[in-house]
Amino acid sequence: MMEKSFVMMKPDTIQRRLMGKVLSRFEEKGLQIVAVKMMHISPGLAQEHYGEHCERPFFNDLVEYITSSAVLAMVIQGDDCISMIRKMVGATNPKEADLGTIRGDYALDTGRNIIHASDSPQSAEREIALFFQDSEICDYSMPDSDLIY
Ligand code: PPS
Repeated sequence: MMEKSFVMMKPDTIQRRLMGKVLSRFEEKGLQIVAVKMMHISPGLAQEHYGEHCERPFFNDLVEYITSSAVLAMVIQGDDCISMIRKMVGATNPKEADLGTIRGDYALDTGRNIIHASDSPQSAEREIALFFQDSEICDYSMPDSDLIY
């Protein structure tokens, strides 16, 4: 089933000049980038985005970190892509993330763990709506997709 996922490169990815490498992972997999926005997240948006974790001891650190510098918010589309992207991202704690996953290959710290990706279709819908207007999501066809798939 065709799905859209909300994916966000965190400040460490941008500051470590890893944006291109991380983006390439998704393109090389065959997924389609349909929206991209570099932005500073306000504390209010961060608290809403991570609202389900508001009782967790790390919540304030998480909000402080994600608002500390620019992030790259994206919408990525593909067949069953939400669970696929989570697999590509790897475990929350990079020390537990398998090599070959984005976190396993690039991150060392649980807070500064490179990337966020929606964990379910419901989260994806909520998160995409928080960060993007419908008009900012580009539906376009890739001329070779019929040949590839
Ligand atoms: S849960 O309950 O499994 O969903 O929680 P988890 O996925 O482990 O973490 C939820 C988000 O909080 C981030 N996180 C942290 N940030 C800073 N410090 C600490 N200690 C910490 N622990 C977890 C984690 O990266 C998740 O953020 P996203 O952006 O979804 O990766």
